Amino acid sequence: MSAISINTSNKTKLKKNRKFVNEESFYSSLNRKNASKVLPKTMKLAKKKQELFKIKQFKESHCKGDRPSVNAFHYDGFDDFSYVIYGENNLGQVISTSRLLLDSVKGFPDDSNFPKAVSDMRNQGVKMAELGRLLVVEDKVKQFRSHYKSIFLLAKMQKIDVVLIVMKRKHVSSHKKMMSVKVLANEMGCSWDEEQAELSLVAWEINAEQPKFYKWVKLEVEKYSTQLWDKYSTSHLGVMVSVQRDVYKDLSERLYGKVLDAGCGSGRIMAYLQDNQQISSYLGVDASDNMIKHARWLKEQLSFDQATLDVSLVEGISGKFDCIVSVHSYYSWCEPQQVLAHLYKLLRPDGAFFLVTPNDDFDPELLTKVVRQELLGHPYYDEFISINQSIAEQAIAQKLYIPMDELIVRVHQAGFRVKTAHNNFFLGGASYLELVR
Ligand SMILES: C[S@@+](CC[C@H](N)C(=O)[O-])C[C@H]1O[C@@H](n2cnc3c(N)ncnc32)[C@H](O)[C@@H]1O
Repeated sequence: MSAISINTSNKTKLKKNRKFVNEESFYSSLNRKNASKVLPKTMKLAKKKQELFKIKQFKESHCKGDRPSVNAFHYDGFDDFSYVIYGENNLGQVISTSRLLLDSVKGFPDDSNFPKAVSDMRNQGVKMAELGRLLVVEDKVKQFRSHYKSIFLLAKMQKIDVVLIVMKRKHVSSHKKMMSVKVLANEMGCSWDEEQAELSLVAWEINAEQPKFYKWVKLEVEKYSTQLWDKYSTSHLGVMVSVQRDVYKDLSERLYGKVLDAGCGSGRIMAYLQDNQQISSYLGVDASDNMIKHARWLKEQLSFDQATLDVSLVEGISGKFDCIVSVHSYYSWCEPQQVLAHLYKLLRPDGAFFLVTPNDDFDPELLTKVVRQELLGHPYYDEFISINQSIAEQAIAQKLYIPMDELIVRVHQAGFRVKTAHNNFFLGGASYLELVR
């Protein structure tokens, strides 16, 4: 049994995962409707009783062992605290299933067999979940890959630090090669099948770098970590340069009705939106807890009652919006095409989407000069410059600031039509597109 040190997304959120004192608040935090949207197309999230019944029948016909023990294993009462996912063949028959169980006041079914490392992590505020009840009977390679990808995306969405997996000991080395797993217990002292195979417990570190895993599940490598955006949030809210203000002013006059801000950061645009009486509501979403924390503070200061701020991936949002706005977030999306396609669905048929993102003319030196002229002496000056420089360096190295022509091809692929396209802001270093359906 080895000690483990885990990179948590936010160690200050001590025991956050244990805060659910009643089951109702836990269910709503699962938000299954939104969660189903982050899954690959081939996978389904069981939301209805009929789906759980289909999965039950599938398990009963494929699980070896006597009925009572199979039942006890699969119907342990933890499904309500989980995401139960499944895959089907062309005939609509279930061919695979797995479950991501979130840690809660109920804990995990095998908690009593788990080593002390698990309760230590829990006490340190590491946010945990358990991947289990994985059963695949057809199209095995693809189905396994889709389940691991689904579990990973759901864990990311729920900001899970560690996914625990109990597995046969012989499978540990293949997992180690592929993903960032650490062995917590080599021998669990219990077994689940007829061969009485030895079981190990591993901790899969969701936020670790694991390029082989990303490649296997065909995910683009995470461009920027949520921790970076968390760190940036204070100076993001505390600093405003004229080049940014010009964009917000322009947009604030064009938006109307129900507005979604995709990757709103600390919500600085709200200060400008407030004067526009055409805006009935504003939903700002961002993957970073700290960005949203600052945005909520700003909303209070402004008494901007129409605003709602949610910690969420853009991909997890539902509803219909008259206008969508996204400033300097596109380049950081892990799956830009998927997000664009999702935004297309969220936009009302006669609505408008304003997409602003740095292009290949973005000149960090020139912009630093502007920031220097306007902000030198500001308490956040150094931090602001240093974070922005590292964001830009990475973007330039990975070609994330794409030319406007390329951006236009991509938005067309997602179904949008371009109404306006220019580079009048950020000293020519940003593409500004007004898109319609
Ligand atoms: C540079 S900040 C821009 C914030 C703001 N729109 C502004 O005008 O400054 C980029 C933000 O995009 C957010 N982000 C990146 N990918 C996201 C996703 N898939 N869903 C939600 N937010 C995302 C990051 O958390 C980060 O706060």
